[in-house]
Amino acid sequence: MKADPSHTPPADPPSPRRRMSRRAAIGVSGLLGLAAVAAPAALFLDPLRRRGDKAGAAETWTGLGAVSRFPEDGRPRAVIVTEDQTDAWLSRPGVAVGHALVRRTGPAEFTVHSGVCPHLGCSVAFDPAGDRFRCPCHRSSFALDGELTPNPDGAPNPAPRGLDPLEWRLRDGRLEVRWVRYLPGLPDRIPVS
Ligand code: FES
Repeated sequence: MKADPSHTPPADPPSPRRRMSRRAAIGVSGLLGLAAVAAPAALFLDPLRRRGDKAGAAETWTGLGAVSRFPEDGRPRAVIVTEDQTDAWLSRPGVAVGHALVRRTGPAEFTVHSGVCPHLGCSVAFDPAGDRFRCPCHRSSFALDGELTPNPDGAPNPAPRGLDPLEWRLRDGRLEVRWVRYLPGLPDRIPVS
């Protein structure tokens, strides 16, 4: 009898040994593919990781200008804080990282707070009408010493803590601070940069 050319007999099922070899080959090629993707990604992210390590240390002092720019009247002044940032590829001098609220109350007496709202991170400003600091986002209110204070109209004050104080020093007639950013929304101060 003549064989039907359109009919292909079913292939024999692969032996258990062939199935195992095929699975092993698939596993090895998957691992090689993963390594091919992971290596360039690690190289790309490395400078960012290094920058994060440096930021966590927060060991540098940042200049806010000559002492003479701050009158001894105790009135708060907002000063932009800048840092020189470097990673493996780029140097960026003078990057604005936040603002400080500075009060000078004597020849060498200052109080310096971060202007980052401890509620959710908006910018806090001095309110001359109320003689306090306030945040316009959700109406947090702070006394001039940075402590929480009630809103004059009795509205809730959502900030979980007072303004974050910044360490300061005087060097060669200039005011310097240690800039630290803390996690918002918590009663405790946990530094993030
Ligand atoms: S972020 Fe300042 S009150 Fe909410």
